[in-house]
Amino acid sequence: TGKPRLFSGMQPSADSLHIGNYVGALLQWREQQTTHDALFCVVDMHAITVAQDPATLRESTRRTAAQYIAAGIDPTLSTLFIQSHVPAHAQLAWVLNTLTGFGEASRMTQFKDKAAKQGADSASLGLFAYPTLMAADILLYGAEVVPVGDDQRQHVELTRDLATRFNSRFGPTFVVPEATIQKESARVYDLQNPESKMSKSAATESGVVWMLDEPNRTAKKIKSAVTDTEREIRFDRGAKPGVSNLLTIQSAFTGTSVAALEEQYAGRGYGDLKKDVAEVVVETFTPIRARALELLDDPAELDRVLAGNADRANEIAQSTLDTVHDRIGF
Ligand code: ADP
Ligand code: NA
Repeated sequence: TGKPRLFSGMQPSADSLHIGNYVGALLQWREQQTTHDALFCVVDMHAITVAQDPATLRESTRRTAAQYIAAGIDPTLSTLFIQSHVPAHAQLAWVLNTLTGFGEASRMTQFKDKAAKQGADSASLGLFAYPTLMAADILLYGAEVVPVGDDQRQHVELTRDLATRFNSRFGPTFVVPEATIQKESARVYDLQNPESKMSKSAATESGVVWMLDEPNRTAKKIKSAVTDTEREIRFDRGAKPGVSNLLTIQSAFTGTSVAALEEQYAGRGYGDLKKDVAEVVVETFTPIRARALELLDDPAELDRVLAGNADRANEIAQSTLDTVHDRIGF
């Protein structure tokens, strides 16, 4: 197509995505799918690197795919697929494992964090190899652009190193990708605990707005967001994290800059801001929720769409894998 290729994905680690995933990923993806040859993946193979339940995983995987589509990822424009539907991911990851130093992999801070949470001895080899699987995800498609959160920066660096290493050892094969790191202005914080990022695994359920929440639940959560004891609506992430977070959300959902919002709310109270944020989020999420539920109501049709998209992904991935296998002597 001549457009730069882009790869991004999310784990199916909850049955709904949240407002942070929407602002930080889906909103950007929706723009990028018109300017890029984009592949958007539901990375279920990554999800099994920690304890999981099969029925839950199967359900969350479909629900995540349905939410991509409902939020505006067009499966006729982008390639929207499930990672485990493309066997080349595991096959390339194996080759990359053989090129990755044990020490190099041991330096990955995500692994250290996740392993520490589980107790080092119960962390799996799969969790240790998460970054090389992620490298395979990217390199199979020759992706030039990889939108990620800041926490994935080190994994994209490793991907670049592995691509370069393979190319110099076996001949030019991989495109060396660039990470595009999510802007701070696209980061949403927990409504009850606005110093920490909103997260699928958050401690405070009332601090997370799920895309598939009932509209009145969403409104209630936003109206109960933690603010501060001042009265001024002003963006100041350090001193006023709660108000700043509401301004970020309002700005992302309306397209109005934070500076313009500050002006618009001069002399008005937090109640007004919360009411407006609740209104725009509910207005935006209501049709998305309805569309997602409709897609989930017709599993055969969703499967058909995902299978067609997996075919395209497989075609690209298999061709890269064939070249790799040939280069390494298989
Ligand atoms: P995964 O483990 O699937 O990467 P995350 O939920 O951490 O799970 O991230 C999925 C995507 O959503 C990533 O692109 C990430 O940067 C984005 N994201 C996650 N949480 C937030 C947040 N609170 N604010 C903005 N973007 C977020
Ligand atoms: Na498609």
